[in-house]
Amino acid sequence: MTEIHGFIKANRRPGELGVHSLDHFHFVVPDLAAAQNFYGEFGLNVSARGDRLLMAASASPHVWGTIAEGPRKKHQFLSFGAFEEDIEPFANRLREMGIARLDPPTGEESNGLWFRDHDNNLIEVKVAPKVSPDEKSVFSIQSAGPGERGQSYRSQMHRTYPRRLSHVLLFTTDVRKAIEFYSRVLGLRLSDHSGDNIAFLHGIHGSDHHMVAFARSDAPGHHHFSWDVGAIDEIGAGATHMLGKGFARGWGLGRHVLGSNYFHYVRDPWGSYSEYSADIDYVPSNCDWPSGDHAPEDSFYAWGPNVPEDFAHNHEA
Ligand SMILES: [Fe+2]
Repeated sequence: MTEIHGFIKANRRPGELGVHSLDHFHFVVPDLAAAQNFYGEFGLNVSARGDRLLMAASASPHVWGTIAEGPRKKHQFLSFGAFEEDIEPFANRLREMGIARLDPPTGEESNGLWFRDHDNNLIEVKVAPKVSPDEKSVFSIQSAGPGERGQSYRSQMHRTYPRRLSHVLLFTTDVRKAIEFYSRVLGLRLSDHSGDNIAFLHGIHGSDHHMVAFARSDAPGHHHFSWDVGAIDEIGAGATHMLGKGFARGWGLGRHVLGSNYFHYVRDPWGSYSEYSADIDYVPSNCDWPSGDHAPEDSFYAWGPNVPEDFAHNHEA
C-alpha cells in the first residue's frame, strides 16, 4: 500500500497562546507630505484615506502602517494579529494578569483588545489573517557564468519595492520588562538578546527571527521599521535611489549578527529609520529557537561601515 503524505505547512504551534503577526503600526508626524514622499521613494505604496496615510508593500495589499498628523513624530501603537479562537483566551489572560482593557483610540474602528504595555505603549490584539511569513523569505544572489555579463546597465536597474514589513524596533526603558511583557502577555518568544541592551522576539506560529525588538533608552520611542527585500542588489539599489532623492543619511551596507540579515538603514525626516533587510533568519512554528544572551560585540553587526554616532538616538524621548 502506498502511503500518502499530505504536506501541511507548519504555521501554527499547537496548544500555546500567542499572537501570530505584527499586523500594523500607527504613528504621527508633523508633515504628512514629507512622510508620503519619504516612504514612497523608499519603495512603499503610500495612499491617502481621509486624514491618514496608509502604507502597503509590493507583495500584498495589506496595510502595514498608518500615519496621521501630530505635533511631532511619535509612535502611537502596534496592532498584533491573532487566530480567531485565541481572542477569548487572550481576553481571559488580560483579566487574570490584571491588565486593564481600554477603548480603541478615537478614529480607530476596531473590536480588538486594547491595553498598554510595560512602557505605557498602546497595543491592540485582534483577529486578523496571518501576515507574518509561513516560510523563510526568498533570497537570491546571481552569479554570471563564464562568458556572461553579470551586471545590467545602470540605466536598466530596477527600483526597489520592499515585499512586506519584517519587524519594528522600539526603544524601551527596561529591556527585561519588555521581554517579560511581550512573552507573557502576547506570547512572543525571545529569539536572542544582549544583556539589558537589546532583545529580539519572534512569533510562536512561525515568523522572522524578530517581529519586534527592543533597545534600551531612557524613554519609549520608535527606532526603525524593517522592510523585506529579496537580494543584496535590491538593498543597494534602494539605498542609491534614496541617496539621489536627498536621503543620504543612514547606515549600511552591513550584515547583522542576531537575525543575520543584510541591511541598509535610511534615516527618515524625523531621525528614525526604515531598513532594507534581506535574508533574515526564520523561526518555523515547530522550531525551538535556541535563544541566547550575546556579548555586545557579537550582537550588533558582523560587518559594515562604522555606526553613525547618533544612530541609536531616541528622537521621541
Ligand atoms: Fe532591524
